[in-house]
Amino acid sequence: MKKLLEIKNLETAFRIKDDYFNAVDDVSLDLYSNEVLAIVGESGCGKSTLATTVMGLHNENLTRSTGEIIYNNKNLLDLSEEELNKIRTKEIGMIFQDPLSSLNPLQRIGKQIEEALVYHTEMKKDEREKRVIQLLTQVGIPNPERCSRQYPHELSGGMRQRVMIAMALSCKPQIIIADEPTTALDVTIQAQILDLLKELQSEIHAGVILITHDLGVVAEMADRVAVLYAGQVVELGNAEQIFKNSKHPYTRSLLRSIPQLDGEENDALYAIEGMVPSIKNLDRQGCRFAARVPWLKAEDHEEHPKLHEVEEGHFVRCTCHEKFTFPGEDK
Ligand SMILES: Nc1ncnc2c1ncn2[C@@H]1O[C@H](COP(=O)(O)OP(=O)(O)O)[C@@H](O)[C@H]1O
Ligand SMILES: [Mg+2]
Repeated sequence: MKKLLEIKNLETAFRIKDDYFNAVDDVSLDLYSNEVLAIVGESGCGKSTLATTVMGLHNENLTRSTGEIIYNNKNLLDLSEEELNKIRTKEIGMIFQDPLSSLNPLQRIGKQIEEALVYHTEMKKDEREKRVIQLLTQVGIPNPERCSRQYPHELSGGMRQRVMIAMALSCKPQIIIADEPTTALDVTIQAQILDLLKELQSEIHAGVILITHDLGVVAEMADRVAVLYAGQVVELGNAEQIFKNSKHPYTRSLLRSIPQLDGEENDALYAIEGMVPSIKNLDRQGCRFAARVPWLKAEDHEEHPKLHEVEEGHFVRCTCHEKFTFPGEDK
């Protein structure tokens, strides 16, 4: 499999008053063609910041990004806005949670999709119009001609999300970044959209970074999974390693807090103690998850937690997982 993207020691900090605070901290991840890499973690863990950093969507006056995001032998962090514009949509497609905030409310759907084609391809007008209808058909919109003449507010949430997918795929990008693409939708629509994304992805062999807080979505979609906590990758592995042999207390807690299909009816769901820390209160040194597993002793954590390879391709941060049990459970 071809390596499409190589993220190395990426840090993104936001400026708050005169200080910078890291929302993404020393993240290294690779993305290969034809795979879905899920990034999972609770709200506030830095998932969206990671995505917007890769897309170069930050205001340079308020953020600082260091490290490398290597794409086609170039570091995306070094590119100008103009160079990034050529890559966005054409080579890296984006799908966000809220299509209303990324679609232009004043422009007809067909026109908006066509604009990407005007900017990135040599297609003539009639070819572009055909392609718009073809894309809308492909994403399962029942009356594509009518839809192309409509405005975003005239469509349901599910239909708008299909339009965003059509737009993201219009130039057959090598990479698709989808940030909580189905979070705002109800469950049946969510399943349809995920199926659609998977189907289209395999057609163009794209690599997908799928960001979600929902482990159900991860189980459905992911080939590999990176678990993010307080801006850091705390566990990385293939789907089987993460779902069947997870190690990090955070991953295990997340898994324990989703309902099991085969669980007893009165099984209480596990709730992780405490909250994701704010970027202003991060422990720069120790294990960032320590506060949420207070029954572990300080010496159970590494002083400077590193990622350790516990089996091939499976990495876990901090050695605390060796001592970790849930309350009331024997090791
Ligand atoms: N523009 C910003 N300025 C300051 N802090 C921000 C900004 N955007 C996000 N953050 C903070 O960065 C952290 C990560 O946020 P985010 O990337 O949105 O997480 P997620 O997508 O996982 O919910 C949070 O603590 C959030 O409050
Ligand atoms: Mg987010």
